[in-house]
Amino acid sequence: MQKNIVVIEGDGIGPEVTRQAIKVINAVIEPNGHHFTYKYCLMGADAIDKTGNPLPDQTIEAALNSDAILFGAIGHPKYDNDPSAKVRPEQGLLKLRKSLQLFANIRPVATYPALQHLSPLKAKNLEGVDFIIFRELTGGIYFGKKELSEDGQRASDDCVYTTEEIERIAHLAFKQAQLRRKRLTLVDKANVLETSRLWRKTVQQIAPQYADVKVDFLFVDNAAMQIILNPRQFDVMLTENMFGDILSDEASVISGSLGLLPSASIGKGAALFEPIHGSYPQAAGKDIANPLGSILSAAMLLDHFGLNKEAGKIREAANWTLQNGFVTKDIDPINFYFTSTIGELIADYVGGKIPGGVKKENIELRKSTII
Ligand code: IPM
Ligand code: MN
Repeated sequence: MQKNIVVIEGDGIGPEVTRQAIKVINAVIEPNGHHFTYKYCLMGADAIDKTGNPLPDQTIEAALNSDAILFGAIGHPKYDNDPSAKVRPEQGLLKLRKSLQLFANIRPVATYPALQHLSPLKAKNLEGVDFIIFRELTGGIYFGKKELSEDGQRASDDCVYTTEEIERIAHLAFKQAQLRRKRLTLVDKANVLETSRLWRKTVQQIAPQYADVKVDFLFVDNAAMQIILNPRQFDVMLTENMFGDILSDEASVISGSLGLLPSASIGKGAALFEPIHGSYPQAAGKDIANPLGSILSAAMLLDHFGLNKEAGKIREAANWTLQNGFVTKDIDPINFYFTSTIGELIADYVGGKIPGGVKKENIELRKSTII
């Protein structure tokens, strides 16, 4: 298999984690005769610095002509506290999502026994937690009309949804539920918002086409509480853009580290894969960030191409590093390994260079050479 991948390393820790993901992809696909070519493109604060534009046309063009996009992270603190900034890094990502029509953002939430002690939840509440969030990504309040009055005293953001926008992601979520534990929870605020009532009605109308899936509905405030109280109850969670943004960050810390969660954004053409963590500017260039979010996003990319065996191998390798204490500073602030070391270890593991049963003591720090 031959694929063209656009790589957008982006801001902060984006470049260093994305490099590990590429190393791992190559190590797992090349022995099986597959080959990916990578085209590097700009987006975000990095693109503003270099071109004045958070999403240069060349990036859109390359992304539209690619088979998939691997993206690192976006954002820089110099824009965060400047509400009057006209150009912002995040505009690049939002425009890319819109240009590629990436309407479904898929965020799996898994837990790892090795990280249980880092989770804010009690161990007994973590057992069996395994759900997946389907977040609508190209509509709602993110993309509605934005206004600021001339005197600067009044602002508004419209929230708009059409049935078509709801249906297309709902079908994907129902299909995913059929492959899993056959439960779908729509999260909305139908007691207050008209758009939420449209979501509920549309999902109720589609539900009979998926008679084997049990559907329930939760208001978003209650859902936020249930994620903490009893996350095991969820299988597929479907929600609109902003609720999904907030709930997926909340859900991500259950695993013990925000650095671990991958995501896929699916649309009509090329799909985009990115860790859900931000650009973590304080860690940029220090080789300490957790590359697993990016590496596991690479696994989702391989699944997307039907390379499920290779994707499974990456997940197995990620588990192996966690179980053996090969972890970055976010997980163990004292005995930690560097970003690049974890990348090399996982690349060696998936490339069959690490024999089963090898112990931590046998792997020298910063090198994956087995002594
Ligand atoms: C995310 C991010 C983005 C969002 C930002 C960077 C625009 O938080 O992917 O969740 O809000 O969608
Ligand atoms: Mn977010």
